[in-house]
Amino acid sequence: MKIGVIGTGYVGLVTGTCFAESGNDVICVDTDESKIERLKKGIIPIYEPGLEELVKRNTAEERLSFTTRIEDAVRHALMLFIAVGTPPGEDGSADLKHVLAVARDIGRYMDGFRIIVNKSTVPVGTGDRVRQVIQEELKKRGETHPFDVVSNPEFLKEGNAIDDFMKPDRVVIGCDDPRTAELMKELYAPFVRTEKPILIMDVRSSEMTKYAANAMLATKISFMNDIANLCELVGANVDNVRKGIGSDSRIGYQFIFPGAGYGGSCFPKDVQALIRTGAQHHYPLRILEAVEAVNQQQKEVLFKKLSKVYQGNLKGKTIAVWGLAFKPNTDDMREAPSIVIIEKLLAAGARVQAYDPEAMDEARKIFGDRIIYVKKSYEALEKADALVIVTEWNEFRRPDFDRIKATLARPVIIDGRNIYDPVKMKAAGFEYHSIGRNA
Ligand SMILES: NC(=O)c1ccc[n+]([C@@H]2O[C@H](COP(=O)([O-])OP(=O)(O)OC[C@H]3O[C@@H](n4cnc5c(N)ncnc54)[C@H](O)[C@@H]3O)[C@@H](O)[C@H]2O)c1
Repeated sequence: MKIGVIGTGYVGLVTGTCFAESGNDVICVDTDESKIERLKKGIIPIYEPGLEELVKRNTAEERLSFTTRIEDAVRHALMLFIAVGTPPGEDGSADLKHVLAVARDIGRYMDGFRIIVNKSTVPVGTGDRVRQVIQEELKKRGETHPFDVVSNPEFLKEGNAIDDFMKPDRVVIGCDDPRTAELMKELYAPFVRTEKPILIMDVRSSEMTKYAANAMLATKISFMNDIANLCELVGANVDNVRKGIGSDSRIGYQFIFPGAGYGGSCFPKDVQALIRTGAQHHYPLRILEAVEAVNQQQKEVLFKKLSKVYQGNLKGKTIAVWGLAFKPNTDDMREAPSIVIIEKLLAAGARVQAYDPEAMDEARKIFGDRIIYVKKSYEALEKADALVIVTEWNEFRRPDFDRIKATLARPVIIDGRNIYDPVKMKAAGFEYHSIGRNA
């Protein structure tokens, strides 16, 4: 099929590439000229395992191309996927300016039947707004072309995006026309060969499904962080509690690891946007308000633990930070807990020496020269008064503890991801603090 994907960020680039990989003819569009220039040269602007190889192969085989000219994609494709950002507006609601700008461009250039598929995460009712904007543009041109607007939310996880796209748990399609639904099913058939469902529903339910999924996952995380904090207060160990509840098949093990709070480009903004949708309908979403509040508080927990070690005085202390990305296997730092922790450390007068395997360039955009960036993990520890672990990259899981101890000025570790054994750490002579564990 002929496909256009508008927006080549984490979602658009993966979507376009995976559709090309299954044999479709795909044009990817972005307004960011430097991004498109790099993509044309085979340089991938984000860190996503496996993506570079696929982009290079499909570009070479001429199934995948990149342009800043949206008109080329609109004229080329039957299906146009909108995959632009929907950042939070000032009141927390999703800002639709990019989505509606794309809709306007589609209306401006379409010259026959098109299926417009919304892959961006958008509030309920956006499908109707997209339809209206396209109609307005067609009217201005004095042309009438039939078109369909479909909702097709994306559930991929950064760091595992290719696999998630290629083998989704389900594909959700919000679509009112049965013929369009058949075309969408045909497009996705290669990705659901293990009988994973393609769920066809109305557009509004599909739009809501994406928010409900993210809100549920964020709820699990905040719930577990709350329980972990209580474990510390009552002398329980959250590791045991986690196993105790995760083994219940109604609960499951996923998303119940306590930590430093959730970040990323999705959960924080999507929880806020859903709260806002509730408020607009005079229905306060009280659970999600608590989820959000617990998460804000959790992002400060590591700083508070460290501050306690130094009796509230971190002025002049050097603190090593391992992990800046909001989670492992990505360079994405949007809403990362590391930002809150580092800002608090700087405000307290500490010096920060930071290391991340992939997110250093992103970190430079945020902190500039206010922190020290090191090239190797152990360099961050030199003359440091503590090590704070914020992101659980694999390379931090089994480090050389003797070297850590010998390099740190004082053997303090604040482990925001519970990746080490508290008993062993204590025996090895560390002042070790983690989340929800009392040993
Ligand atoms: N990142 C994720 O893990 C993830 C997962 C599922 C859903 N989503 C949703 O998908 C959407 C995109 O997210 P993302 O993380 O890929 O965003 P992103 O910020 O990485 O990428 C968006 C891209 O769109 C481009 N863009 C903006 N306006 C444009 C326009 N008018 N024409 C062409 N290109 C334009 C930007 O230059 C940018 O490259 C969001 O709604 C997000 O909530 C994201």
